[in-house]
Amino acid sequence: MQSSRDIDALVSALTRSEKLSLVCGTVDPEGTATGYLAGVDRLDIPPFHLVDGPLGVRAEGERATAFPASIATAASFDPDLGHDQGRAMAREATALGQDALLAPGVNIVRVPQCGRNFEYLSEDPVLAGDVGAALVSGIESTGVLATVKHFVANNQESARTSVSAEVDERTLRELYLPPFRAAVDAGVGSVMTGYNRVNGSYMSDHAELVGDVLKDEWGFDGYVVSDWYGLATTVGAATAGLDLEMPGVALDTETSNDDGSLDEFEWPDGIPDATHAGLFGEPLSAAIDEGAVPPDRLDDMVRRVLGGMARTGLLGDGSVRADGALDTPAHRALATRVATRGTVLLENDGVLPLADGTDIAVIGPHVTEPKLGGGGSSETTPFEATTPAEGLSERADGTVTVTHGIPEIESVSLFDLLPFVEGGHDEGEWNDEDHDRSMDTAVEAAAAADVAVVFVRDATTEGKDRDSLSLPGQQDELIEAVAAANDRTVVVVRSGGPVELPWRDDVAAILEAWYPGQADGDAAAAVLYGDSDPGGRLPVTFAPAEDYPATDERQFPGVDGSAHYDEGVFVGYRHFDRTDTAPTYPFGHGHSYATFEYRSVTETDDGIEVTVENTSDRPGREVVQAYVRPPASPVERPLRELAAFESIELDAGESRSLSLSLDELARSYYDPDDGWVVDDGPHTVEIGRSARDVRLTVEYDG
Ligand code: NOJ
Repeated sequence: MQSSRDIDALVSALTRSEKLSLVCGTVDPEGTATGYLAGVDRLDIPPFHLVDGPLGVRAEGERATAFPASIATAASFDPDLGHDQGRAMAREATALGQDALLAPGVNIVRVPQCGRNFEYLSEDPVLAGDVGAALVSGIESTGVLATVKHFVANNQESARTSVSAEVDERTLRELYLPPFRAAVDAGVGSVMTGYNRVNGSYMSDHAELVGDVLKDEWGFDGYVVSDWYGLATTVGAATAGLDLEMPGVALDTETSNDDGSLDEFEWPDGIPDATHAGLFGEPLSAAIDEGAVPPDRLDDMVRRVLGGMARTGLLGDGSVRADGALDTPAHRALATRVATRGTVLLENDGVLPLADGTDIAVIGPHVTEPKLGGGGSSETTPFEATTPAEGLSERADGTVTVTHGIPEIESVSLFDLLPFVEGGHDEGEWNDEDHDRSMDTAVEAAAAADVAVVFVRDATTEGKDRDSLSLPGQQDELIEAVAAANDRTVVVVRSGGPVELPWRDDVAAILEAWYPGQADGDAAAAVLYGDSDPGGRLPVTFAPAEDYPATDERQFPGVDGSAHYDEGVFVGYRHFDRTDTAPTYPFGHGHSYATFEYRSVTETDDGIEVTVENTSDRPGREVVQAYVRPPASPVERPLRELAAFESIELDAGESRSLSLSLDELARSYYDPDDGWVVDDGPHTVEIGRSARDVRLTVEYDG
């Protein structure tokens, strides 16, 4: 690996224009990378390839393992699994000739409507931080760079390229910054700024957050990259601390569409202006000549970019880089494992797991398609995928009938908003048009079966927020009709985040599978038949839309260009506790097929030790959660905050102890004058199965 002295020597040897070529992207001649630097041949600096992004590798024109949506990875409450997924994605990136992965996305799920919640992790900063950091360390364990995004308070797609998040410092420190800090502490090589503004300043140009907090205070020594076409101004960004502009080149402004050239094209809300690029090319050179940007700053940018390249082995002998591996049996198995581990059993009256020999009716408008992900830059095209119909037909040994019931739900993609860009993958290739789409056929099939399994989905995308939390189309009606015909109806929901489930009292079981990726049908079958325990717990609260905190237009989507984060730190379960509102399903909720008793808890030197017993006659996985309740405080604090979690697999009848170390974040609050403060007095630690299912408590003096 290149030493820092070598990098300094390289920087001195580079001409001004060579330096500029290392901080401003250009077109990948092979057309596979999402972002590309050509390198400097004269000094043996090779090209550098950056590629999307969190659900697998999206190299243009290539296939790769399509992992479940990030929110499913977080639902596993299993950072080790996140590490494995990061490692696998990175090895695929290497196999596809890429060097930096534009993942993970760690923005806090602030509003359930956000179109990109499926790409993010949680409403809770400790869970998002732990899983995000694990993804980072997994990616980087192979020598590929991770890119944590989108820094910071990029929590909505409505007006995402211009909205200003008006958020106070305490809230930023306690909620929105910690997952980024966790990624930096895990050694992340690059940070991508969001399109949005924070307190008026574009994030690309945010001197306080990029320069002071990220770089100076946290000591981040990698490079900061703009989101694509998301660099606001040359001087503002360069002096704030942005290091690399991507993609660096404008879309061809001569490109015609129905309305004329792109220059005149009216960019839809949520789509960045792709003619605004090249600000770190000649304009940066001019700004240096004019004295508006110190020349040292350009050297620092180059040093950081070269440092990233060196970490990927590109400037040395390549020995730090793990071998590439694409679509291996291990990666396929891992995609299935993440999907089953992330699946949350919301309700079960005993119908699940399905017994062998059960006759089932598989129903839903998309049962002959896999639900790979949401729309936008994370769309990954797999080599193979199983549909719910295939997965269940293969696993079941009773009769299986397959009906669609209702017409397909219209899919939405960022690319649909742009007439001149081709869409992402075509889910239609798995479509089987032979099936009937009448509700009557579905109801007949349900009535004739022992169990009806209805698969439903929402349709979310980057670039657009959801209008409502209801399932689109006639899916609610379909479920009601099927449930009326068969009282053993199971619903499998695939959604990018919380959805409303108005029929939940009328069905026998509900699984939340998020967007399961290529393993869709296999994972659904494994969980439905109990071959895998439904390992997931909710990383976000489920509730009716009007019960969430940011219901005022001023808060979301904002007024006059600003979204006011008036709810402060009271996001997700913190809000439901504050208002004493019962959610539909609380944060952390999820059943196992096994049952558990929490036997004891004791305080240890750096946390607590909990003993849990599997009281059922089958193995199962429990996610033990510890929440901290602060003592009396001079500021209003959340009633409880997640401080630690740990999963444990227990055989039938087995009892074991596990230790949890409590995250300081949960015990402290941020005072803008004094910094982090831990209130005096004993803290109560609640140990339980969700934020609303406390089984044991202990006083913690720490
Ligand atoms: C815009 C998205 O916000 C970002 O997440 C992605 O990595 C880039 N486009 C590149 O596709």
